Amino acid sequence: MARPNMKPIVLLFLKLLLIGLSAPQLIAGDETQKFVYSGFASANLTLDGTASVTPSGLLELTNGTVMSMGHAFHPAPLRLRDSPNGSIQSFSASFVFGIISIYDVSSHGLTMLVAPSKDLSKAMPVQYLGLFNGLNNGNTTNHIFAVELDTWQNAEFGDIDYNHVGVDINGLSSEKSHTAGFFHDQNGTFENLTLGSQEAMQVWVDYDREKTQIDVTMAPLNMTTKPKRPIVSARYNLSAVLKDVAYIGFSSSTGTIKTQHYVLGWSFAMNGPAPVINLSMLPKLPRDHPKGRRSWVLDIVLPVGTAVVLLSLGAIAFLLVRRHFRYAEVRDNWEVEFGPHRFSYKDLYHATGGFEDKNLLGVGGFGRVYKGVLQKSRLKIAVKRVSHDSKQGMKEFIAEIVSIGRLQNRNLVPLLGYCRRKGELLLVYEYMPNGSLDKYLHGKEDNTILSWAQRFQVIKGIASGLLYLHEEWEKVVVHRDIKASNVLLDNEMNGRLGDFGLARLYDHGIDPDYTCGWHHRLPSSRAGTQRKCHSSY
Ligand SMILES: Nc1ncnc2c1ncn2[C@@H]1O[C@H](COP(=O)(O)OP(=O)(O)OP(=O)(O)O)[C@@H](O)[C@H]1O
Ligand SMILES: *[C@@H]1O[C@H](CO)[C@@H](O)[C@H](O)[C@H]1NC(C)=O
Ligand SMILES: *[C@@H]1O[C@H](CO)[C@@H](O)[C@H](O)[C@H]1NC(C)=O
Ligand SMILES: *[C@@H]1O[C@H](CO)[C@@H](O)[C@H](O)[C@H]1NC(C)=O
Ligand SMILES: *[C@@H]1O[C@H](CO)[C@@H](O)[C@H](O)[C@H]1NC(C)=O
Ligand SMILES: *[C@@H]1O[C@H](CO)[C@@H](O)[C@H](O)[C@H]1NC(C)=O
Ligand SMILES: *[C@@H]1O[C@H](CO)[C@@H](O)[C@H](O)[C@H]1NC(C)=O
Ligand SMILES: *[C@@H]1O[C@H](CO)[C@@H](O)[C@H](O)[C@H]1NC(C)=O
Ligand SMILES: *[C@@H]1O[C@H](CO)[C@@H](O)[C@H](O)[C@H]1NC(C)=O
Ligand SMILES: *[C@@H]1O[C@H](CO)[C@@H](O)[C@H](O)[C@H]1NC(C)=O
Ligand SMILES: [Mg+2]
Repeated sequence: MARPNMKPIVLLFLKLLLIGLSAPQLIAGDETQKFVYSGFASANLTLDGTASVTPSGLLELTNGTVMSMGHAFHPAPLRLRDSPNGSIQSFSASFVFGIISIYDVSSHGLTMLVAPSKDLSKAMPVQYLGLFNGLNNGNTTNHIFAVELDTWQNAEFGDIDYNHVGVDINGLSSEKSHTAGFFHDQNGTFENLTLGSQEAMQVWVDYDREKTQIDVTMAPLNMTTKPKRPIVSARYNLSAVLKDVAYIGFSSSTGTIKTQHYVLGWSFAMNGPAPVINLSMLPKLPRDHPKGRRSWVLDIVLPVGTAVVLLSLGAIAFLLVRRHFRYAEVRDNWEVEFGPHRFSYKDLYHATGGFEDKNLLGVGGFGRVYKGVLQKSRLKIAVKRVSHDSKQGMKEFIAEIVSIGRLQNRNLVPLLGYCRRKGELLLVYEYMPNGSLDKYLHGKEDNTILSWAQRFQVIKGIASGLLYLHEEWEKVVVHRDIKASNVLLDNEMNGRLGDFGLARLYDHGIDPDYTCGWHHRLPSSRAGTQRKCHSSY
């Protein structure tokens, strides 16, 4: 009867014996692979970079130096496998950290990591968090597992925001990440925590060998228990990642914003929950800025804004100066009396659309003629730009053209006024809608042939205009340049003389006998007119 019952008893005994033999080893292993630091005052950590332990026992990973990084490792290696070809054992870690920045943003973050070596000198600061560099980021030969607390959003790593917790395997593109915070046990609602809030917070990292699951949990320090629901939960078999012998530690880096990253307490255990950190023993985070942090807006946006404003002012000044030169004119004292006949260059510039080519009426011996519309009066004008450098004779010339401008004769093209710029004189005439006679005579105007009656009317008009210039006006004005292109046709096809007096500007000082005649370009000039030529101009 007893026999059949013997087998289970023997098996049980054997099992107990086996456990009895292996248990001390396991326990011994656990004891060496378990630690708790409630403050680091007496700790023997392996530090590099900006990392140091402050007299109060804070582990200061970065000290506010920009673009820097720091590392801290538990000095002894971990044996992550319980047999040479076994899988990575379960482990748990917890730590309390705090991030201090003089601004309400910070850069860049910190990680708790497990790596095959304590030498991370080839890692880079800023977005690489002192963990990887541009070459090895994401490479499976890194054999690194890390939990990142990142206060910067780096698009190249697919960061979800600028305040997140992520599980990283061999690279900074997190396997899984979540906005920093925790889930309330009571109602399951999520509550944000700001990593860079200057408040200390606790983080738990648990790896489960059977489920191959990594859980990261967070809570503010004043919460007495670890929240049940982790913030990040990632399925990943770390056996394929980590080496048998590995080191556990922290890395941290800063970017352009002066930030200090602190660890206040730390605990670790293999195959069991991380020892509880005695929170009342933890050193206090420094309070450098008790009156509240300086605003990111004030310290960075403001200078940038000021720079933008200054640049804008510069640009406005530049535009004003350019405008000054664009519309620059020459004005002499003697011109005061001609004031009403003086146009501003700006008005002429706008009237002619900036002397656009499409408004060009023609090019003559003195310069270009542009069509325009005065903006205020809607009056159509023709503006002739005469390049003229010398001031010599200018006063007399202006006096004369202004006096001619006062001529009111239906057979003269009204001269409305003038404008002077450096090296240039602008004459403003009334616009003659039917253009100049030459265009009809030389067939430039399409299919318009003047009838004999029209021609006669034009000739009578010119004769009447000349008579007026020579005899009816108080002074004798000699035209000197009568030709078809200087005969313009108004809207009733009356011939009107244009360009009177202009030749004088250029022939100034030449023998009056010669200059008084009809223009030499006109072979049909009559000698008789010379007799009538007085010193009229
Ligand atoms: N008041 C005006 N209304 C309409 N078109 C005009 C007016 N003044 C001149 N034009 C046009 O502009 C063209 C050029 O005139 P511009 O007086 O500069 O040259 P030109 O008469 O050919 O030679 P010159 O320089 O010897 O007078 C003329 O052919 C004419 O078609
Ligand atoms: C600190 O740890 C290192 C490496 O484990 C060891 O060599 C050194 O003696 C330790 N120093 C102290 C003061 O414990
Ligand atoms: C930060 O640490 C670096 C390296 O140890 C050191 O050179 C620097 O002076 C420290 N800066 C401050 C502000 O403590
Ligand atoms: C472990 O695996 C390696 C090859 O992967 C093999 O050579 C070795 O014998 C294994 N050791 C044990 C104890 O199984
Ligand atoms: C990963 O790193 C190893 C060793 O540093 C190197 O040989 C390999 O080319 C790297 N792979 C990639 C994809 O960069
Ligand atoms: C959830 O519970 C927490 C703690 O009891 C409480 O502070 C919070 O307001 C609750 N949130 C909601 C949405 O009920
Ligand atoms: C939590 O943070 C995110 C990102 O900063 C923000 O969009 C969200 O409104 C915050 N939620 C709460 C409850 O503060
Ligand atoms: C816990 O601390 C946070 C700041 O970290 C504060 O907002 C919150 O009100 C505190 N809660 C309790 C219960 O004291
Ligand atoms: C994890 O991977 C190791 C070897 O890579 C394997 O032995 C183990 O069974 C895996 N664990 C699970 C739960 O799949
Ligand atoms: C935590 O530390 C305080 C002061 O050092 C001590 O009084 C308290 O008993 C400790 N708590 C635990 C649970 O060890
Ligand atoms: Mg002309």
